[in-house]
Amino acid sequence: MEGKPLFRPLKIGPVILPGNILSAPLAGFSDRAHRETAIRFGAACALTEMVSAEALVRGSAKTLDLARPAENEVYPAIQIFTGSPETAAGACRLLAPLKPAFVDLNCGCPVPKVLKTGGGSALMGDPEMIGRIVAAMKGVLSCPVTVKIRSGLRSDSLTWREAALAAQEAGASLVTLHPRTAKQGYSGRADWALLAGLKDLLTVPVLGSGDLFTAEDVMKMLTETGIDGVMIARGGIGNPFIYKQTEELLVSGTVTTRPTPQERMAAALEHLERAFYYDPAPLAAREMRKHLCAYTKGLPHSAPVRAALVHGTSLDEYRLIFTDWFGNDNPSVL
Ligand SMILES: Cc1cc2nc3c(=O)[nH]c(=O)nc-3n(C[C@H](O)[C@H](O)[C@H](O)COP(=O)(O)O)c2cc1C
Repeated sequence: MEGKPLFRPLKIGPVILPGNILSAPLAGFSDRAHRETAIRFGAACALTEMVSAEALVRGSAKTLDLARPAENEVYPAIQIFTGSPETAAGACRLLAPLKPAFVDLNCGCPVPKVLKTGGGSALMGDPEMIGRIVAAMKGVLSCPVTVKIRSGLRSDSLTWREAALAAQEAGASLVTLHPRTAKQGYSGRADWALLAGLKDLLTVPVLGSGDLFTAEDVMKMLTETGIDGVMIARGGIGNPFIYKQTEELLVSGTVTTRPTPQERMAAALEHLERAFYYDPAPLAAREMRKHLCAYTKGLPHSAPVRAALVHGTSLDEYRLIFTDWFGNDNPSVL
């Protein structure tokens, strides 16, 4: 019997995404410009960075802004963090008018500021609380609730099974596992074997995250683990082409999208235009620095260009830098 196609729609409760390759939540990166770019280049949907439920409940307009969908988001997906069911419910009440396709609970963030709230990966030490928070979110949302977990706090306390089961029992419609411990942060290898274990354990769909830097990595993760889809994280920073490349590889076995340096810069310029569209110029320029470093990494003669780009302040300035770099091959007209 033929297995399921590797590239396929993804069912999250009643919501059906057109594909199973998603753009992961990335604090400091996955703002509206990043998400719009990921979707335009083929991601099925793109999660916001983790949004503080507590700040939302306190009435922070800046925090609510982080959750606002980009213009091309058909399936807006918002991630929150909190350690409290009441705060989660209050935050979800405020998020409901944004009409999210689903809201995700962060159970993986390892930074002390988040751990202090009892949220993020602190929840990996308290699976029962994950269940309570998911139930509280479901109590106020009409859209599905999903959960993103790590393998545990430390290698001697791997609680992914308990965390995932608690989430599913409380009504979560999907679980994503980044199989590193909180202690590991983002270093070392993600233990993909746990993903196969999670797929066996749950009846709801399972997504995998961790060490997905090429289309081939995604194909390997899906083939080795049998999970339902993936979230691409660092691999999509400065490289939105990865979404289309992955789809091509999964559908036809070959990658045909091979961007030239000019095409990469055209994508960077598009991303810049979106950043300046959504945010005031100084903020857009500041936020784009890290993205531009990633877009230009490894390209010929890019070191002096990067040095100029980090000082850019306006779209015109960036266009000039790119034109100088490529001479007449102005990336904006490619
Ligand atoms: C800078 C950075 C910010 C991140 N922010 C979030 C976040 O807000 N929420 C979340 O669930 N995961 C976050 N993650 C984790 C990623 O979504 C992903 O699970 C992790 O990076 C593993 O994937 P990778 O090895 O392919 O990058 C972050 C990771 C990085 C590197």
